[in-house]
Amino acid sequence: MKRIGMLTSGGDCQALNAAMRGVVKCLSYSKEDVEIYGFLDGYRGLIYSDFRMLTGADFSGILTKGGTILGTSRTPFKLIREPDEKGLDKVEAMKQNYYKLKLDCLVILGGNGTHKTANLLRQEGLNVVTLPKTIDNDLWGTDMTFGFQSAVDIATDAIDCIHTTAASHGRVFIVEVMGHKVGWLTLNAGMAGGADIILIPEIPYDIDKVVDAIETRQKRGSRFTILAVAEGAISKQDAKLSKKEYKDKLKNTPYPSVSYEIAAQIQKKTGQEVRVTVPGHTQRGGSPCPYDRVFASRLGSEAGKMILKGEYGFMVGYRNREIVKVPLEEVAGKLKMVAPDATIVKEAKMLGISFGD
Ligand code: F6P
Repeated sequence: MKRIGMLTSGGDCQALNAAMRGVVKCLSYSKEDVEIYGFLDGYRGLIYSDFRMLTGADFSGILTKGGTILGTSRTPFKLIREPDEKGLDKVEAMKQNYYKLKLDCLVILGGNGTHKTANLLRQEGLNVVTLPKTIDNDLWGTDMTFGFQSAVDIATDAIDCIHTTAASHGRVFIVEVMGHKVGWLTLNAGMAGGADIILIPEIPYDIDKVVDAIETRQKRGSRFTILAVAEGAISKQDAKLSKKEYKDKLKNTPYPSVSYEIAAQIQKKTGQEVRVTVPGHTQRGGSPCPYDRVFASRLGSEAGKMILKGEYGFMVGYRNREIVKVPLEEVAGKLKMVAPDATIVKEAKMLGISFGD
């Protein structure tokens, strides 16, 4: 008999359900008796013992369903060691609930913050297996996270739609793409959508270079320009500020996000109309794309196999087209960013895409 606790934590994304289904299907296939304890709304459920017993029926028909059947929430790692408002020690509470339910392991699906807490629980002696989810694709130790390809599809659709209207009106358009502090999503959706300018956090931009790129296009006869701008994009000037100075700047800026600031600057420097589109959380919503369904199912199935063998303390990752076990201590606390001199960036530049650098 295996008693397994499962939770999804952090921002949701597509294919969380597909991944959990993969774990459960694999365990069921093995004929091992299994009890699944589904903790609700991320680590909150484990801290406050809020769970639901799940059966195979709960995982049926969810391969294509976006979101997470367990619900999720953000439990910031920096507060995990701080007692809650009633003085409860959260880490101790999670351990107690784990032992009270006599769990063999926890299956934790999440991104960066989630992995820091998962690693902490491992250090505290709990058996943990994790699965890499996030539309940002910024988890260390895996070439790919599930949710990413689905989000690329949605952001690309947004850019495609903007293309036709931008071309009709002869306008400059900015599509702001999610991705938190990294540019994977913007880079991939930008290239897939044929963006002319791609601005990502890893390559700080110079607004004059951005304007140059727009004007060069116009001189060559293009009526419109599309910019794919990462929500975390930063100018060369701002990149020189200290963390605190930059935070203060963001607090006092009149713009809702960096794209609006860039739009205002382009408008001022060129006198041209600039429109901003922010697909926002649509990028995390809806059904997983076929790639993510397959990918998350594979990862889930491998996690199931690891549980059956009693191999704990790993994230199931993907490197060089192989599913691999990555020790949690290697994953926790690191960001996988786009290298400014990565081959894909060089190739994009050779296609004529400007990064504003
Ligand atoms: O990490 C996923 C993500 O969608 C980021 O791309 C984005 O910055 C953030 O979550 C948004 O968070 P929230 O859903 O809490 O607004």
